[in-house]
Amino acid sequence: MNKKVSEEQLQEWLKQTEPLTSLGRVPDYIPALAKQDPENIAVGIFHLDGDCVGAGNLETTFTLQSISKVLALALALMDQGEDYVFSRVGMEPTGDPFNSIAKLEEEDPSKPLNPMINAGALAITNMIHGITPDEKVGRLLSLVHEMTNDNTIRYDEEVASSEFETSYLNRSLSFFMKQHHVIDGSVEELLDAYTKQCAICVNIKQLARIGAVFANLGKDLETGRQIIPKHLARICKTFMVTCGMYDASGSFAIRVGIPAKSGVSGAIVGALNGFGGIAVFGPALDEKGNSVVGMQLLETLSSRMDLSIF
Ligand code: DON
Repeated sequence: MNKKVSEEQLQEWLKQTEPLTSLGRVPDYIPALAKQDPENIAVGIFHLDGDCVGAGNLETTFTLQSISKVLALALALMDQGEDYVFSRVGMEPTGDPFNSIAKLEEEDPSKPLNPMINAGALAITNMIHGITPDEKVGRLLSLVHEMTNDNTIRYDEEVASSEFETSYLNRSLSFFMKQHHVIDGSVEELLDAYTKQCAICVNIKQLARIGAVFANLGKDLETGRQIIPKHLARICKTFMVTCGMYDASGSFAIRVGIPAKSGVSGAIVGALNGFGGIAVFGPALDEKGNSVVGMQLLETLSSRMDLSIF
C-alpha cells in the first residue's frame, strides 16, 4: 500500500477537527489527567519504510493508559502462550463500558470477556513474568523501547501514583477476580504494576512507531527482527478491531475500519498492515472514553486516503 500524505495536508485536517475539542471532556477520575489541556492535539503517521509525518504539538508527551493493554497482551502471550492466556481471559467484545464489572458476575466460570476491558487487562498484567511490579513494568518498558527504538521512555510517576491512589473500581474488579481465581498474588502489587503500565509516557511519533511495528507483522522497521511473533501481533490487532474502542468498536469499524486502540489520556493508535502506524492525540473525550478529535481525525484520514481494511 503506497499511500502517503503530506505534512501540510495533515496540518489542514488537524486544523479542521480542532473545534471539536470543545465537544469532549477531559477525564477527572484520574486526578492527574484532569490537568491535561484539551487544545493540545497532535497526529503522526509512521510508514513501514521509516518515513514519518506529523502535525500539531509533536513535542507533547502523554500516557498510554489503555493503549498499554495491547502491549501487555503481547507480552503476556509471549510469556505464557495462548492456551494459558485464553484460559483466564476471553476473546469476545462486551458492548459495556471499559470499567464495567457487570459481565464478571454473569460469566461462569467468572473470567473477563476480553483483554481490552479493565478486568481483562488487570488479569493480563497479573500474568506477565516478573516477581515484583517493577520487574513486570521494566519488561513491558523494554518491549516499548524495542518497538520505538528509543530506550529513554519511562512511566510518569505522578500519573501512576494519582491513579494508584484512586483506583477503587480497578481494586474491586481485582478482588472479585481473586475470589474467583482468575488472578493470584497481591492485589496492591497488581495495581502498582497496572497503574505504572498505564502511565508509560510517549510522544506522537513514538506512538505511531508502536502502531507501525504491529502493522509490520511484529517486526522491527529497520532490522526486520521479529519483536513480537507474527501470529501474536495478529491476535493483538484483531482485538483492536473487535474491542479496541470499547462499546464504540462497531461504529468505529464502520466509520474508520482501522485496527485501533484508545486510552483515556486522549491518545489512539492505529495499525494498518502494509501501510504503517497512525497516532492521534486530543485529551477531550466523548462519553465512551475515546478522544473526540482523534476519532474524527481517523475518520477523515480513512475516508480521504481510503484506508479501511474492509
Ligand atoms: O484503568 C483505567 O481506568 C485507566 N488506567 C485506563 C482506562 C482507559 O484508558 C480507557 N480508555 N479509553
